[in-house]
Amino acid sequence: MKKALFIYWTGTGHTRHLVKMVATRLAKEGLWSPDFLEVNALSVPPNLESYDLIVFSYPVYAFNMPGYFWKFVKGLKLKEGGSYLIAKQSGEPIALNNASSYPLIAKIKRSGRPFLGEYHFLYPYNIHFRYPDDFVKEILNYDGVLLDILVDNLTKGANRRFPYNPLFHFLSFLFRIQRLGSLINSHFYRVDPHKCIKCLKCINECPMGNITLKDGKIVFGIRCEMCMRCSFLCPTGAIDIGLLQGWKVNGSYPLERIKDDPSLKGEYSFSFKKGFYSWFNKPISRVKDEWNALKSGSNDEADSHGNKHLAFVRDLSCQKRPRFDVCPSSCVQDSGHTS
Ligand SMILES: Cc1cc2nc3c(=O)[nH]c(=O)nc-3n(C[C@H](O)[C@H](O)[C@H](O)COP(=O)(O)O)c2cc1C
Ligand code: SF4
Ligand code: SF4
Repeated sequence: MKKALFIYWTGTGHTRHLVKMVATRLAKEGLWSPDFLEVNALSVPPNLESYDLIVFSYPVYAFNMPGYFWKFVKGLKLKEGGSYLIAKQSGEPIALNNASSYPLIAKIKRSGRPFLGEYHFLYPYNIHFRYPDDFVKEILNYDGVLLDILVDNLTKGANRRFPYNPLFHFLSFLFRIQRLGSLINSHFYRVDPHKCIKCLKCINECPMGNITLKDGKIVFGIRCEMCMRCSFLCPTGAIDIGLLQGWKVNGSYPLERIKDDPSLKGEYSFSFKKGFYSWFNKPISRVKDEWNALKSGSNDEADSHGNKHLAFVRDLSCQKRPRFDVCPSSCVQDSGHTS
């Protein structure tokens, strides 16, 4: 079996869940056997030469990749790897999230290696507010269908991409201010000494090694990536996340329990005609349509939905492409061109 390497960042564990789900499925289909690199402050660049497929996974932070993840990936020599794939995830289906991958796609394109496309999965918010279990089940079901599409496309050598949008590119650039924000907010992280039981979970789990014990007190440094892992994992809710305290989501989501709970219907968002949850109606229907069309073989050429920003495009033939698209691997090998 060919080898795949999953290079990913996670704060609260959702991307790890996604990566395991995709890797398990690819191995089950007999396509790729997986290795994993969860990026943290101690990670060293891997040797990409022995991998046929490299999958990049990350949670979207403020319409961008997490700052440290991008810094790490920027330093990799992608020319040494095989093909590349992006499987990212976030709390909302908003189209502006697509722009988070532009710098990474441009880097893959510069490497001249085949880019097999990008897939945006959905997971619950780890900031702002907590999603109800029924809604979590609904978006996990969405992820299951998207995974079917991913496997089908990979099997057929098809490329799936979102159209490039210069306005989104500009806006996502502006939102990179979040990286500075996390540095500033580092100064405001606090632990309530009356609640803290000194389990040291936060210290052991922080991906940035940003938390230490000094004179019996939990102390935060300034390397915080705002990943929310410490506050999610703290068993007593003792951590105050500074300026974002009003947006704190307490405790992890039991994703596997929710997925297997037969009492949850997973049909939450469709009862909403407006507001936050109604944003999910279209993407959920669209992914089901996409999968049905793939099964019946009717959308091998392109998007059938006409929505420019959220639309996918599926390419099986080699034509002139927008800036951030690269031909499928078979096409690159046959024709020797990558534009
Ligand atoms: C600092 C920060 C910024 C975020 N920004 C966005 C965003 O721009 N769009 C979005 O859909 N979700 C956003 N989210 C939600 C996360 O992407 C989502 O909860 C994700 O599942 C977390 O993944 P993880 O557990 O692998 O860290 C943000 C979360 C954090 C902590
Ligand atoms: S201090 Fe907390 S939020 Fe900041 S990087 Fe560490 S675990 Fe993440
Ligand atoms: S995880 Fe919470 S309880 Fe444990 S040491 Fe950190 S702040 Fe204290």
